[in-house]
Amino acid sequence: MARSGFDDGVPIAVDVYAEGLIRNQHVDATAARAAGEKAVADLFPQGIDTPGMLFFDGLADGVKIGWVWLALKSLNTSHIYMIFVMEGSRGRGHGRALIQAVERELVGRGVRQITLNVFAYNESARRLYQSVGFKPVSQLMTKTINNCREPLM
Ligand SMILES: CC(C)(COP(=O)(O)OP(=O)(O)OC[C@H]1O[C@@H](n2cnc3c(N)ncnc32)[C@H](O)[C@@H]1OP(=O)(O)O)[C@@H](O)C(=O)NCCC(=O)NCCS
Repeated sequence: MARSGFDDGVPIAVDVYAEGLIRNQHVDATAARAAGEKAVADLFPQGIDTPGMLFFDGLADGVKIGWVWLALKSLNTSHIYMIFVMEGSRGRGHGRALIQAVERELVGRGVRQITLNVFAYNESARRLYQSVGFKPVSQLMTKTINNCREPLM
């Protein structure tokens, strides 16, 4: 892993976040993108220099194939906000190698637990996390209300 560039990952992080909103919260693409941009700006107000955040690029033969953004939290815990492997490089073990490299890095920093969120529809990510030892600890459940007429507010 190498210390990451940040700016080129921002539009991708916004896209991944927006896709989750579109698929799960029934918002349109414009609103989802706006929410994604706000979420990324709120989380990383100083970009790559945001305190408490770590940014790593995954390299294969010296070529960037993906990246990981994570936070060092209290209670010896780190939270992964974003793991991304470029489309052409997927399915070759890079995602797993990235998480395992992150784990080695965090052990050296005294971290004992890693957390992350994943959408139910994201089967490749869920399987990846399970394959390296993540276990679900809670489940956000939703029900779509089909006959809703007017928003309450
Ligand atoms: C999720 C992601 C990081 C996986 O990266 P990857 O390099 O393709 O993953 P790997 O090749 O290391 O695969 C590791 C394991 O993940 C699972 N997996 C990966 N791709 C999969 C797919 N298309 N379908 C089902 N399982 C899949 C498998 O269990 C695989 O292990 P196996 O090959 O031994 O069966 C990548 O698909 C990605 O960047 N997606 C877009 C961004 C994203 O959704 N990030 C997660 C946000 S929570």
